[in-house]
Amino acid sequence: MLQITTVLPKRVLWAFVAAVLVSALIVLQRGQRLVPVVTHHPAKKAPAPTNILDDINNSTLGFEKILVVGLPSRTDRRDGMTLQAALSNLDIRFVDGVVGSNVLEKAVPKPQNKEHLRGPGLGSWRGHMNAIQKVVRRNLSSALILEDDCDWDISIRQQLRDFARSAHALTQPLQSSPGSYADPTYPQPSNSSPPTVPDIPFDKLPATVPPKSSPYGEGWDVLWVGHCGMHFPSKDNKAMPKGRVVRYNDMTVPEMRHLWSLNVPFTLAQKYPNHTRAVHHAQDGVCTLGYAVSQRGAQKILYHVGLKEVTDPFDILLKLFCDGSARRSTDMHNCLTTQPGLFHHHRTVGHHSEASDIGDHGDGFRDNAYTDMVRWSVRLNAIELMNGGTSFHDQFPDDS
Ligand SMILES: *[C@@H]1O[C@H](CO)[C@@H](O)[C@H](O)[C@H]1NC(C)=O
Ligand SMILES: *[C@@H]1O[C@H](CO)[C@@H](O)[C@H](O)[C@H]1NC(C)=O
Ligand SMILES: *[C@@H]1O[C@H](CO)[C@@H](O)[C@H](O)[C@H]1NC(C)=O
Ligand SMILES: *[C@@H]1O[C@H](CO)[C@@H](O)[C@H](O)[C@H]1NC(C)=O
Repeated sequence: MLQITTVLPKRVLWAFVAAVLVSALIVLQRGQRLVPVVTHHPAKKAPAPTNILDDINNSTLGFEKILVVGLPSRTDRRDGMTLQAALSNLDIRFVDGVVGSNVLEKAVPKPQNKEHLRGPGLGSWRGHMNAIQKVVRRNLSSALILEDDCDWDISIRQQLRDFARSAHALTQPLQSSPGSYADPTYPQPSNSSPPTVPDIPFDKLPATVPPKSSPYGEGWDVLWVGHCGMHFPSKDNKAMPKGRVVRYNDMTVPEMRHLWSLNVPFTLAQKYPNHTRAVHHAQDGVCTLGYAVSQRGAQKILYHVGLKEVTDPFDILLKLFCDGSARRSTDMHNCLTTQPGLFHHHRTVGHHSEASDIGDHGDGFRDNAYTDMVRWSVRLNAIELMNGGTSFHDQFPDDS
């Protein structure tokens, strides 16, 4: 102020003080409203109806996070996953897997005879448990957990959207009578439940109450969407709902001769026409190439698979968990799956012996990369995707 009085003539200073006082009065008169008055109102629009299924288009496929489990030393696989994720617009986080010998003996829950899983299988169990632990610790509402050697179709978002709509038909209440479900054996068969229920056709899905918490529905524990074999729920499985959503002419499903399953009988291939996809509760799952967990599902897995005796590889423990097996827990766990799976092994060019850190794949060299059962693989179309092209390579063209 001193400086101003020396520089400016008094007249100017008084004019300035007067201006400040007048402004202050105007502000007070408007009841302290400091917000400028808007004279132009933009036309009010009704908000567009939001469809929670659209969240599946986001960079984490409608889950809160995508976690990729694998050994940090397998830099080759992280390179591959990083590229595939970029080409599919996915945001992924790596979770460090562990070498079996680095898991402290004392840290392995075990029975009195001290027998437990050892070697690479133990490391793989720990890697998956690290991912599950992260979901629980960070309170993620859901996470998709992938293994670092998997691949998927370029239409993964459409596939997952179809999967989600099928899941709604199986687990969301009917709009016409919100106390019941299209699958009369959901959430759990009763003593009077039929041993089988009619297929629900995908092109005539019942109207169900839209889910609020996840685009995949409410109340699921696990979405086992990447595997090497499943079974439809068997008639005598008292714990598991029997419903199936069946979709014909899903062109992302290769002809049956290109499909295989580690589970026999492979009912999907034997009983249904080519290009059929089924969504149902997961029984006898093998391989955990890709699975999503909800927060509650992750907590249950931490309890039943993390804190109980580590007697078997992780995928078998997850199968026992989903099946409601007496060996793990007879509680009903809500695990959904699709056949064929949506995430499959990618087999790179290279020595068979380097293909896996767990199993022994023998000698020999693979000259051509491929991905099991995926028609328009992201990995195998990397160059076309990077070039912005649309002439995608189909690994399993139809016979005709
Ligand atoms: C994607 O959608 C899911 C489900 O609504 C949400 O949890 C997740 O935060 C979203 N991800 C991103 C990156 O917006
Ligand atoms: C975890 O998330 C749920 C759902 O958003 C919230 O209700 C709960 O308070 C959170 N828990 C913690 C510990 O932040
Ligand atoms: C979401 O993705 C699907 C399949 O790619 C597309 O058909 C649909 O228009 C997308 N929806 C939104 C809201 O972006
Ligand atoms: C599936 O396609 C193959 C090859 O075109 C054909 O030989 C076979 O009969 C088809 N299977 C069924 C069940 O239609």
